[in-house]
Formats: sequence, structure tokens, C-alpha cells
Amino acid sequence: MAMGYSEKVMDHFQNPRNVGKMDDADGVGEVGNAKCGDIMKIYLKINDGIIEDVKFNTFGCASAIATRSMATELIKGKPVDEALALTNQAVVEALDGLPAVKIHCSVLAEEAIKAAIKDYYDKNGIAYDADLFKESGCEHCCHN
Ligand code: FES
Repeated sequence: MAMGYSEKVMDHFQNPRNVGKMDDADGVGEVGNAKCGDIMKIYLKINDGIIEDVKFNTFGCASAIATRSMATELIKGKPVDEALALTNQAVVEALDGLPAVKIHCSVLAEEAIKAAIKDYYDKNGIAYDADLFKESGCEHCCHN
């Protein structure tokens, strides 16, 4: 199999879940990686602190698409706090792993979810700890 992708990665790449946009989103997050041109935009529909619906768009590679598809599945129906705690490692584990050189492609999913939740908090005047949203910064270069 190309680059040793797991079956789950191939499945989410070929049939990505939750792709699209949302006109009435409660929170929108957009993050990008200038090095490879990857951009991810995520839309959240939040009701009573629960993420009722998620949509995303991306220009990333196959690993990026698979990790975003999985990440949106993992936060759908969950409380905002749980979505906030989702790490890219957890997403990678849920996909049965990614080739080491592709791990960096999973980082934007976590960052975009955080950005969308921050947007939701800001729009609704909900107080939060700013430390939760510190830029993690991706030191990895894409296409390596
Ligand atoms: Fe940049 Fe995969 S998202 S190379």
C-alpha cells in the first residue's frame, strides 16, 4: 500500500466525512500551513455546549483529509470541552497510525477545531483561559 497507510486512513481519504461548509455555523476556524499550501476551515454548530454538527474544507494532502475527516467524526455529538481536549495524536491513533513523515499533516485538524471553539466563545461572550488557545506552531516542514 502506498506509504503504508492504514485501511482507516485510506477509507477516510477516499470517503471523507463531514466535508462542506455551513452557513449558520456558531464557530468557524481557519488555519493554514504556508509551507505546503494546506488550509483547513472548520465549521461548528453548537447547541447547549454540545457540538451538533461539523463541516470542514481542506486543501491538504491525503493524510490531511483523512485526519480531518476522523477528527470531525470524533468531536461530533461531544461536549465542547471534550473537543477542545482532542489531540492530533488521538486522531492519528483512531486512524491506526500514520507514516511518521505524515504526522505533521494531522496537526492542523487540532488547531482548526481550537480556533473554531475560540470563535464560538468570542462570539457568545463566554469566558475562557487564553492559555488553552496558545499557538502550538508547527515546526515540521511539509513534503518531507
Ligand atoms: Fe501538508 Fe500533508 S498537509 S503535506
